[in-house]
Amino acid sequence: MRRLTVPAIRRRKAEIAEGGEPLVMLTAYTVRTAQILDPHCDILLVGDSLGQVVYGLPSTVPVTLEMMAAHGAAVVRGSYHALVAVDMPFGSYEASPEQAFASAARLLKETGAAAVKLEGGEAMAPTVRFLSDRGIPVIGHVGLTPQAINALGGYGARGRSAAEQEKILADARAIDSAGAFAIVVEGVVEPIAVAVTEAVSCPTIGIGASARCDGQVLVAEDMLGLFERTPRFVKRFDDLAGRISAAVQTYAADVRSRAFPGPEQIYPARD
Ligand code: KIV
Ligand code: NA
Repeated sequence: MRRLTVPAIRRRKAEIAEGGEPLVMLTAYTVRTAQILDPHCDILLVGDSLGQVVYGLPSTVPVTLEMMAAHGAAVVRGSYHALVAVDMPFGSYEASPEQAFASAARLLKETGAAAVKLEGGEAMAPTVRFLSDRGIPVIGHVGLTPQAINALGGYGARGRSAAEQEKILADARAIDSAGAFAIVVEGVVEPIAVAVTEAVSCPTIGIGASARCDGQVLVAEDMLGLFERTPRFVKRFDDLAGRISAAVQTYAADVRSRAFPGPEQIYPARD
């Protein structure tokens, strides 16, 4: 089966508007997770949320290009159906379109991923244009942009004031016009998600942005119940932390009682 392409994802906008199924996206950081998620997803995002989820960092701000390249390569190796997009980490693209191109080219070359994602609106539109015109497909990210945590002061929902609503809509329009092939809309009230989805020519992918987007994304560890602190918008589809804990408790008890390893796990002695 051929991997989903950027044009195929973009074309879904019209189909979804006509009642077609929304896009399915999840984060993946490792090869095994990618293998398990891949058949069910349209897009696998190697999110810089790996800073908190994999490395225990306090935010995504310290995440490096090296980390993104290493995890991106693993996810590409573990998938063959979904389009893989890699987050550009904070500090790797904001200074200039040229800086962004160098970082994004490195990510695509070292990982084999098809696209990058970067946060920001109007200020980043020239950069989105620069990359798109030079063969690097870009997913935008507006609304709550976690890399701006030091400026925002918190991870609360955006778009509650009229001024903020106007700004988010202008941001989405700017990166859409600049050539983004999809836009993640994070942490906004439903009317903003609707306005953005109607205003742009590419698919919107919501996270904490209601069901009225062209697709949905969550951090896989959040929806699987593996990560303890999760925002309101996360639905837990399983309790993997609880199930892993129960399995490990049984293993520990079996080791301590010498019930493990049993006859099936032992190499038979040859005569
Ligand atoms: O880093 C991330 O996981 C993301 C998604 C949740 C959109 O940017
Ligand atoms: Na991210």
